[in-house]
Amino acid sequence: MRKSFVLTVLTGALLLSACSRPVPVPQDGTELWLAAGRPYAEVLASVQAKVDPALPAEGFHIYDDGAQRVVAAGSEAGLRYGVYALQRAEVLGQAGPGIDISEKPYYDLRLLNHWDNLDDTVERGYAGKSMWEWTSASIPEARIRHYGELCASVGLNGAVLNNVNSNPLVLDAEHIARVAKIADILREYGIRTYLSIKWTSPIALSGLKSGDPLDPKVRQWWKDKAAEIYAAIPDFGGFLVKANSEGQAGPQDYGRTHADGANMLGEAVAPFGGIVMWRAFVYSPTSPDRANQAVEEFLPLDGKFADNVIVQIKNGPVDFQPREPFSPLFGQLRDTKMMMEFQITQEYLGFSHHLAYHGTTWEECLDSDTYRDGPGSTVAKMVTAIAGVANTGQDPNFCGYFFAQSNWYAFGRLAWNPELAAEQIADEWIRQTFLKPAGVSDKTYEAKFIAPVRDMMMASREAVVNYEMPLGLHHLFGGTHYGPAPWDRLGRPDWTPAYYHKADSLGIGFDRTPTGSDNVHQYHEPLTSTYANLATCPENLLLWFHHLPWDYKLSSGRTLWDEICLHYDTGIRQVEAFRRTWDGLEPYVSPALFAEAKRKLEIQQHDAEWWRDACVGYFQTFSKRPLPSDVRPLRLPIDSLEFHQLKSDELGMPVFDDDLRAVILPPRRMMRRPQ
Ligand code: GCU
Repeated sequence: MRKSFVLTVLTGALLLSACSRPVPVPQDGTELWLAAGRPYAEVLASVQAKVDPALPAEGFHIYDDGAQRVVAAGSEAGLRYGVYALQRAEVLGQAGPGIDISEKPYYDLRLLNHWDNLDDTVERGYAGKSMWEWTSASIPEARIRHYGELCASVGLNGAVLNNVNSNPLVLDAEHIARVAKIADILREYGIRTYLSIKWTSPIALSGLKSGDPLDPKVRQWWKDKAAEIYAAIPDFGGFLVKANSEGQAGPQDYGRTHADGANMLGEAVAPFGGIVMWRAFVYSPTSPDRANQAVEEFLPLDGKFADNVIVQIKNGPVDFQPREPFSPLFGQLRDTKMMMEFQITQEYLGFSHHLAYHGTTWEECLDSDTYRDGPGSTVAKMVTAIAGVANTGQDPNFCGYFFAQSNWYAFGRLAWNPELAAEQIADEWIRQTFLKPAGVSDKTYEAKFIAPVRDMMMASREAVVNYEMPLGLHHLFGGTHYGPAPWDRLGRPDWTPAYYHKADSLGIGFDRTPTGSDNVHQYHEPLTSTYANLATCPENLLLWFHHLPWDYKLSSGRTLWDEICLHYDTGIRQVEAFRRTWDGLEPYVSPALFAEAKRKLEIQQHDAEWWRDACVGYFQTFSKRPLPSDVRPLRLPIDSLEFHQLKSDELGMPVFDDDLRAVILPPRRMMRRPQ
């Protein structure tokens, strides 16, 4: 009797748990963040949609008029944004009766910059070849439409189709015709098309002898070219220009300034309402501090750019590192329009293999106070437009990793409203991307899946900083920009890690105080003093601004050396924790997505170990100190890593062995470390 009672209870409990066991919904990540919402057409059909010219052009108002739900907007584009906002609100449970949402974008220009080449390779692209398929006979219409929906759903309204390292052929008749076909589709989604141009195009395409922006023949050439483009694409957005940067030609080759060059192009597109985005990514190998150069070159030109020219500035003064302070140029220019350039593609954060949610990176930058016009002069307020280097490619899920999709989403949301919190954006993305399994209550799903994924995302960028380059270290990469190479000091100095870390027997870090490159004086007070003073410099930027002895004491009471070791070890531990968390989420997520992240997180942990072995091992050859006792020993000795190189495939992606460790090849020739 007693036995059968126990059995009955046990069976009942088992049955109950079987019934309430979640049943994951199959998903492969190809719907991105539009997976959970109702289809756009269905949402549109369920509302009264009306264009009301009294509303801001791209703005919308969602409200209930009795039983009728209304989406009113200032334009067709605004209507689309409104319908997508409603779709999102439905998924987030914010679309109940009495809904009242009024929004308009913070920036007028919200662009993706594609670094796609005409041979279909993508510079710093980690999701396959170019999604525009330049070399195919026809354009990939379905794919472009899907892209258009995704962009419109987060309010992006512009796309520069090709690489800033541009090929002049993009402006020949054949390519203009092709671009026009793409533009025809993108227009339907409220997206304007732009192109990156090569400065020497008049020479390459028409045999002109010069590229001098003050030469009337050159000026006429660009005017004619603009007219030709606008005849094919009446709403063409304009040009993005990389000039006198990293070997690209530009107006300085003819003794002219960036302003001369930009204004010449501005004049060519002005009659058609076009703009010129002129990049401030300039630096030369001879400078004592690459971080100073944009201000040195552009501040004297402040106020000299034409009205339709906007200077596009990377978020940090060097190059999209895992952590940089904001570029001081944002606080320096007063009479020049400025545009933010973020990098969505993870050039320096593990490509599409690492989980590195950039919402936090960009929030940190946008919220930074430049003090240009007194307290509250945040970077977000200094810029009037925003661009992100896209992470899209031909991969079925567009981004090479479903977690990388969150960065495209986050960029779009912040471009729409830079005051949104990174955590809210992560939360929205999770709820829209993953389909809730059957058999799970909202409360359980919230606690067991949404919260842990959100926490992982929120911690992920800091984990990358920890295992790649903590405490303000930067640019410790090898040539592929994937793995570590702190030993690298051959070749152009400002392309080598040694230029940035300056490790020697006495210490480590780049002195940017007044005794060093004085980069701190490119910031306004109180930042100059905050950064220059060791007592106030944020520890996460310490070695960005200071060269310090190995035994310098940090706020923890530990030495700099011990803290460096600890941060690298912490980075690995964070990834280990992500792996444990993810393993526990298997019941809630489709097998395909579960397997994808499981594999990538294993790669990420192995890469983190590689980073730590390489950096701590290499710096130890200078510090000559043991690892602190609470840090795990290095896995590999520095001799087995130093000067070794990552094996990459034809698209530049790392090659992994059967254990999912990056294949590292021994140096091709003997290299010696300087004594
Ligand atoms: C980085 C990147 C290059 C790119 C450049 C740019 O240096 O590695 O591939 O061309 O930035 O932004 O122009």
